[in-house]
Formats: sequence, C-alpha cells, structure tokens
Amino acid sequence: MAANVRKAVFPVGGLGTRFLPATKAIPKEMLPVVDKPLIQYAVEEAAAAGIEEFIFVTSRGKTAIEDHFDHSHLLTTSLEASGRQDLVALIEDWLPGPGQVAYVRQMSPLGLGHAVWCARHLVGDEPFAVILPDDLVQAETPVMAQMVAAHAEMGGNLVAVMDVPREETRRYGILDVAHDDGRLAEVSGLVEKPDPADAPSTLSIIGRYILSADVFAELDAMEPGAGGEIQLTDAMARLIGRMPFHGLRYEGRRFDCGDKLGYLEATVAFALARDDLGPGLASYLSSTVRATGEES
Ligand code: UTP
Repeated sequence: MAANVRKAVFPVGGLGTRFLPATKAIPKEMLPVVDKPLIQYAVEEAAAAGIEEFIFVTSRGKTAIEDHFDHSHLLTTSLEASGRQDLVALIEDWLPGPGQVAYVRQMSPLGLGHAVWCARHLVGDEPFAVILPDDLVQAETPVMAQMVAAHAEMGGNLVAVMDVPREETRRYGILDVAHDDGRLAEVSGLVEKPDPADAPSTLSIIGRYILSADVFAELDAMEPGAGGEIQLTDAMARLIGRMPFHGLRYEGRRFDCGDKLGYLEATVAFALARDDLGPGLASYLSSTVRATGEES
C-alpha cells in the first residue's frame, strides 16, 4: 500500500493575463465563484482528502492569498460585537491551523514545472498532491479524495484525466495509454500540448496530481518544453517505467476557471446547486434564454 499523502502544493505564481484587467491588483486565485475564492475551494478540497500541510507557490502581488488564510481580528471582533456569529464561522471555520500553511515565492514565472520545483524543500521526500486552483471540479466526493483513494491502491504517480474533443488537445498534457480499464489508464507516455494530428489519445490531464518526490530530480534539469516553459508534464514523463503511472477518470464536472467562459459556467453551475440562489437563477436564465430565442 502506498504512503499517505499529507502535503499539497498550490501553484499560484502565474500572471493570470487572461483575466486582465481584473487580475492587475488581485490574484486570479482570489476571484470568487459565487462568494468563495477559487483558492479556498482548492484548499477545502485538499483538507477533505486528509491533507495536513498546504504549500503555496506564490509571486509578487499575491499577498491577498496570505491574508485570506489568516485570522482577521478586526473583522471578527466587529462581527462578534454585532452578534453575527454566523459570519464569524464563515470566515474562520475552514482555516488551516497555525503552522499548516507555508509560502514560497517562485520569483520568475517560468512555468508550472518550475513552480512545483520551488516547493521541493517544503515537500521533502514523500508523495505529494498538486492542485491548480483554476481547475474547479464539482463532485459529490471531492476529486482529490477520489485520487488519494486510488493512489493508496496504485502508488507511484497519478493524474486526474478527462476525455476532450480531439481539436482541443493542444491545450492539455495528453496521455499515451498502455492499458485502460475505463477508470484507470496505465500511462506509457505523456505529451504536452500536442497538435490534434499528433496526439496519442484524447485523455487529457486536469489540474490534479499525486506525485512521487522523485519528480524534483527530473525538474532539476530545468529544461524548457512547450511554450518555452519548464513543464511538469516533461518531468513526469521521465518517471514512466520507473514506477506505476496512472490517469484516473474522476467523477465530477470540471470547469476551467482560468478561461472566461469556463469561469462563467462554473459560477452558474455552483449557484444553481445552492438552495438560496438556484431557483432564482434558474428562472432568470430560462426567461433570458427564451427572450433571446424569440429575438433571433
Ligand atoms: P496558466 O497556464 O493558467 O497561467 O497556469 P496563468 O499565468 O495563471 O494565467 P494566464 O494564462 O496568463 O491567464 C496554470 C497554473 O499554473 C500556475 C498558475 O498560477 C496556475 O495555477 N503557474 C503557472 C505558476 O504557478 N507559475 C508559472 O510560472 C506558471
């Protein structure tokens, strides 16, 4: 049986250029889906999977994230004074405890592989999770909990995967598959952002990984890959054959919140799922869609 996964790395060093001007002064990871920032969804998902240490790889301009994971004494005191214990619970109850959160600066946005490598001393020599907060997954069992359960069986490296239309392969890391039982795909190769004609499959990696610490030695080489960035996919690919490597078809609906349309879809889906907002939004959406249909 594989070792427990106790640590998660959250790479939040990117520039978020697709959301400018919103991300000029606010980190992309602090954008809310309904009323909760993306990074809080990610941390809650990790906590639900049993993660105990939360490592953020940040960059300049990301201090709002640190503030979000700290007590706000001023706010708490004033809410308590006005009897709003419900709101105090909303800002306090999910916070990791002192010493459970660590930050490291990436210093230059050289790519996802480089961001993960920056966390090497904080991770040490044990398997660890990587969660990209802009990939948001709506699921009955949080996707990282599904992965931790699969990793306990399989060990090695595990990535969450979904099937994409072939014309979209150039947006993802794509699996070459040796064997597939419909839930777990055994990986024989990985290609970052291939042209549709060259893609070995349409099974693509979303922003959830459980990795062996051996990946750090592969990242040490700092070889730039697709787009001139240091790619995590390339370093993972060099571990294939040395340890088990699987793609898990998770259960749930994934939204790419780094993209404007994906972000809007996530907002609608998460609001529709809520008792306080769902019915009102559903009736607004259906009347708007009807009116648009009548106009066209
Ligand atoms: P993206 O490819 O979405 O890049 O990164 P980005 O900079 O965040 O956004 P755009 O494309 O400019 O709009 C995927 C994830 O990898 C992290 C990002 O923070 C995001 O969580 N990342 C990317 C880093 O931490 N460092 C990097 O150098 C690059």
